Order: sequence, then structure tokens, then C-alpha cells
Amino acid sequence: MCRAGSNEIAHNPATTITTSLAPKELTLKIKNTLRIVLAITALSSISVIGLVSAEDTDKALLERAKSMFKPLPDTVRVDDYPHSAARIELGKALFYETRVSTDGRMSCAACHNPSYHGADSLALSVGVHGKKLPRNAPTVFNTPLLIAQHYGGNRMTVEEQAMKALLSPLAYGNKDYAEAEAKIKSLGYTKKFEEAFPNEKEPVTAENWAAAIGSFERTLLTPAPFDKYLKGDQRAISKEAKIGLDKFMSVGCAGCHSGVTVGGQSFQKFGLTEDYWLATGSKEHEALKGRDKGKWHDTQKPEDMFIFKVPQLRNVAMTPPYFHDGSVAKLDDAVRVMARLQLGKQLSDDDVKHIVAFLQTLTGDVPAQFAKAPALPVAPYSN
Ligand code: HEC
Ligand code: HEC
Repeated sequence: MCRAGSNEIAHNPATTITTSLAPKELTLKIKNTLRIVLAITALSSISVIGLVSAEDTDKALLERAKSMFKPLPDTVRVDDYPHSAARIELGKALFYETRVSTDGRMSCAACHNPSYHGADSLALSVGVHGKKLPRNAPTVFNTPLLIAQHYGGNRMTVEEQAMKALLSPLAYGNKDYAEAEAKIKSLGYTKKFEEAFPNEKEPVTAENWAAAIGSFERTLLTPAPFDKYLKGDQRAISKEAKIGLDKFMSVGCAGCHSGVTVGGQSFQKFGLTEDYWLATGSKEHEALKGRDKGKWHDTQKPEDMFIFKVPQLRNVAMTPPYFHDGSVAKLDDAVRVMARLQLGKQLSDDDVKHIVAFLQTLTGDVPAQFAKAPALPVAPYSN
């Protein structure tokens, strides 16, 4: 009302000159000024409340995050696989050693390369004698912390994984362990095995190859800005990443991708709302005699059809393309596919952008001890 009054006065020059009305106008002006001051005070107190609540929101978000994720440990428990400097060094050499494979070209590092953040950047890895594997190589970083190894979870530990790779017809192609062990000896590794496995009569065994490589892999942890954040440093990740983290939890991604490796802790069906290949464009693969059915290939149980290990999302921004067959090239599209197939949701472009910003906070540095290729024994190899 008062505002209307003041307008009336302002728009009626005849009244403004009358002395009797002048004080009224003054009072109105004062009243208005007061109003403005009051309004500013009110506004500023709102913004003070706003600031406090932003801090509270930040705190609440961190608490929620802490209940779903864990920072990386400094070391991975190795009770069953004690390691020593000699073992780690041997493991690193073997990780890079190509001459144990049947074409002299395959090594762990051929497909898990430091230049590609522990993966190979290909949709499908290329194995021994140029054979295409049916699956995409995940990063080798942080893998000892996963519930099991491989998309089908058919290897429990990194040691079991390394041992079986020796005989895989697609990876190393050896016909038996004796063949692989003979090669390791012929390359001049015996002394290094003796140092790494003291008190063993015949240390050059496939088990020790696996134990040494496992020791090395257990050093490949990649702490990231998100770990700093989980330990309480609010400034370790950006505002966009926090919005993304909030979305990641509220929309349901963290229902599957949680824990210390932000995934890698359970098995789930890929394609809960519709067949996964409709969204990914995945093709059939000869080695799998059709579509990839996940865990089913190892168990043949109907309930394991299309069940895959939920992959860890640490370093995900560095390891395109995505999914078990690298069928989706870009991270934002992979996020959209996930929302559609696993949650039956369509995310807005902003949501996707923020979630990607969060996923980027999971990128750690390539461990220094991995980045530099080792010198390997000088030995001839006939292929
Ligand atoms: C020809 C390429 C190739 C070679 C050689 C190779 N890998 Fe892999 N690696 C892959 C692929 C592809 C997968 C995924 C397999 C699957 O899920 O079925 C994988 C999976 C893994 C995993 C499990 C990761 C996860 O998230 O489940 C680990 C650990 C691993 N490899 C370590 C090694 C080690 C150690 C060696 C050497 C002994 C090795 N790899 C040799 C391509 C390769
Ligand atoms: C019901 C469980 C489930 C939910 C919910 C879920 N995921 Fe996944 N996620 C999986 C599984 C299983 C895979 C592996 C699929 C495959 O490649 O076979 C996967 C794969 C991924 C990948 C590809 C990783 C790689 O290295 O190739 C990304 C990225 C991803 N998820 C992000 C998300 C995001 C973001 C959300 C939320 C919008 C989400 N996921 C929700 C189970 C889930």
C-alpha cells in the first residue's frame, strides 16, 4: 500500500509542492528507505544462513560419501603373499617380459601399459599371434582390492590371474606350465627367483611367477583427489564434482559402484531394463559363440546369464573405451548407458557433465615404479 502511495505522490506534482504534504512525502521516503535497509538486512541474513547451510551441505555430502566409499589403503594386505623388494623387482621384470609368450610379443605390459593408465586403449585386446580377445582390458591398478578378477570373476586373486594367463591360448599360449618354466629359466631368471624366494630348492615355478607378479601388482595403487576429499579435504574436488558425487549417490549409481574401488565389489546383471546390446551396440564374438553372457561362460548356470563383475571406476576417465567389450567410446555416453540400462533413467546433460566431473576425481597418478620400463635379461629368443 505504502509503495502505491509513494508512487501516487511521485506522479502527482501538484501534491508534492503543497507544504502540508511535503512532510508526509518525507515520512514515506524514510519509511521506504527503512524498508530497503530492512530488506537488505533480511537479504544479507538470508545469505549468511545460505553460507552456513552451504557448509552444512558440504559436510553432509562428505558424511554420506564416507558411508559409501573408502579411501585407498597405503598398502594391500599381503598375509598370504608376503613380498620383499626382491620379489617386487622380479615381478616387475616378469610383468614386462614378452619372451615367455609363444610369439615372443605378449607380456602383461603389452595389454596393461603405463602409457594407457594400466590398460591398452583398445576396444578388444589383441593377444598372442594377433588373436583378438573377446574383452576389453581393464586397468591393472588397484585390482588386488577387487572382489575377484575378470568380468566373469573366474579368477579370485591377482596371483591366480597371472598364473592362468601363462596357459591362456589368447594371452601367452603356453601348452603347459613346464613349457613356461623352461622358457623363464632359459632367459636367465633363475638367480632372481632364488633371491626372491630364498630357501626354495626349485624356485622357478609358475606359482612363483604368479607370486612375484602379484607382489608387484599389489604396489600399483593410485590414490586420487577423491581420497583426499574422503579424508576431509573439502577443497580436493571441485564444486561440479561435488554436485556429480551427490547425483551419483542419489540417482543410484553408488548402489553398485561403491566401496574402496568405487565398484569391483559385486556381480550384477548388465542390462536390467533392456538387453545391454540395444544400448551399447555390442557385437557377437566368435570365441564366445555369440553374445557375451558374462559369468555364464564359466558356470553355465542360467542365473549367471549376463552377470558381470561391476567394474571399479577408479581411473575410469583415463581408460576408454568402455564396458566389457569397449563398445562405448566416450565416458559421458557410458554414463548415459548405465542410467538407462541399470536404473531405467534418463539423465539431463548437466547431470551427466557433473557425474563425469566426479568420475574424473578418481584419476590417480601412474605409480612411479610402474612408469619406467625395467631392463630385462639379455637372452636370445627364437620365434
Ligand atoms: C592380450 C592382452 C592381455 C595380456 C597379455 C594380459 N592381460 Fe590382463 N587382461 C586383459 C583383458 C582383456 C582382461 C579382461 C578379461 C576378462 O574380463 O575376461 C584382463 C584382465 C586382467 C585383470 C583383472 C582386472 C579386473 O578389473 O578384473 C588383471 C589383474 C590382469 N588382467 C593382469 C594381467 C597380468 C598380471 C598379466 C600378465 C601375466 C596380464 N594381465 C596379461 C588383457 C591382457
Ligand atoms: C545395478 C548395478 C549398476 C548400477 C546401478 C550402475 N552400474 Fe555402472 N556398471 C555395472 C556393471 C555390471 C558394469 C559392467 C558392464 C559391462 O561392461 O559388462 C558397469 C559399468 C560401468 C561403467 C564402465 C566402466 C568401464 O571401465 O568400462 C561406467 C562408467 C559406469 N558403470 C558408471 C555408472 C554410473 C555413472 C551409474 C549411475 C548412472 C552406474 N554405473 C550405475 C553395474 C551398475
